[in-house]
Order: sequence, then C-alpha cells, then structure tokens
Amino acid sequence: MPTKHKHAGKLISFEGPEGSGKSTQIALLAKHLQLLGREVLTTREPGGTEIGEQIRNIIVHNSRGDEMCAETELFLFAASRAQLVRQVIAPALISGTVVLTDRFLDSSTVYQGIARNLASDPVQQINHFAVGNIMPDLTVIVDVPTEVSLQRIRLRASDLPDRMERENAEFFAKVRTGYLLLAQSMPSRFHVVDGTRSADEVAHDVWTAVQKLIA
Ligand code: TMP
Repeated sequence: MPTKHKHAGKLISFEGPEGSGKSTQIALLAKHLQLLGREVLTTREPGGTEIGEQIRNIIVHNSRGDEMCAETELFLFAASRAQLVRQVIAPALISGTVVLTDRFLDSSTVYQGIARNLASDPVQQINHFAVGNIMPDLTVIVDVPTEVSLQRIRLRASDLPDRMERENAEFFAKVRTGYLLLAQSMPSRFHVVDGTRSADEVAHDVWTAVQKLIA
C-alpha cells in the first residue's frame, strides 16, 4: 500500500456502478466547495488528459473492442491513470486544490479484479505503480441496486450503450458487491451513500463525509 500524499490539497474519488449518479454528485459538490471559496478541480477516468481521452476511446468505443482481453484493459486503464496523476492531479494537490475525480484506482480493483476475475495481487501492484503516492483522502461510493443501474443505462438519452455498458447483469452485480466489500474492508477511506434517493438527499450525505475532511 503506498504511503499517503502529504500535499495541501485533498483528493476525493467517486465510485459506483454505471448510472449511479456520480457525475451529478461531483457537480453539486464542486459548486458547494466553490461557494465556500475552495479551489476545485473535477476530472474523470479513463480520460482527464488528452492522452487519457484517447485511451478512453480505445477502451470504450473501439470497433475491435470485443477482442480486447482483460489484461489489456487493465493496462490501458492504468496508463490513463498514470498520466492523469502526474499531469493533473499531483500538481493540483500541491497547489492546495480539492480534486474530485469520477473514478480512480478502485474501479480497476472492482471491474478488472473482481468482475473480470483477474488475480488481485497484480491488479493491486499495477494500480499502485500507476498512482505512486497519490491515494484518495476520501472515496465516496454511490451505491444503487443492479436493477436500477441497468434501467438507468437503458434510459440514458441518445447514446448507444458502450463496450462496458453492454456487459450482462451478472457482471454489474459483481461490480456492486465488489464495491461494498471494498468499502467494508477499508472503512476509514470509504463512505457509502444510497444513490436511489433524490440528488439533493444524496448530496447531503456526501457533504457529511466531505465536511470532516475539508474542515
Ligand atoms: P464511466 O462511463 O463511468 O466514465 O466509466 C467508463 C467505464 O470504464 C465504466 O464502465 C467503468 C469502466 N472502468 C473500468 O472498468 N476500470 C477502470 O479502472 C476505470 C477507471 C473504469
């Protein structure tokens, strides 16, 4: 396990199954923090840098995506993360910014390690190599039951489901359980919120956890 960063800023990651409402919560929290006068930066994985966005395209929209093996997927997510940490997150933390990221290393632990069933030791080693000492100060899991997640994917506006979204219900059930088990194993870093309620109610719960960190 990497030693924690000692920079002036804070890193808060948001995790959860697709359709859990992470992005809405990130936007609400960013607004709240800005109103309090905090410098805030929001980003996402995979992506967040030009190189990372190109990697995102390869992973989720590539026409040959169905041929991609789980190991390749793991390295591509890790590559996007390594770039994001060094180019965006670390400099922002050094300058005292609160960084909110839509997914971080726990997504690889859960999606590639648990749902795709890759061995956990190499997944952890690759994750830790990618982030260096930049671990989240807080990770918010926006939890929704698998049926809700699948329904929200189907209802999503115009887009056709991407390569990850085309996975079956069993895959998403493993993702959900994986996150909850991870949160149980590290209660000091994780905060689970019930994502089935209104956005404002969820935001209230998120703020309870963030307030302690930001004070
Ligand atoms: P998003 O659509 O929530 O931004 O995430 C893109 C997809 O990539 C989503 O299905 C989760 C998946 N993912 C992984 O499988 N492993 C990872 O390490 C990351 C960051 C995302």
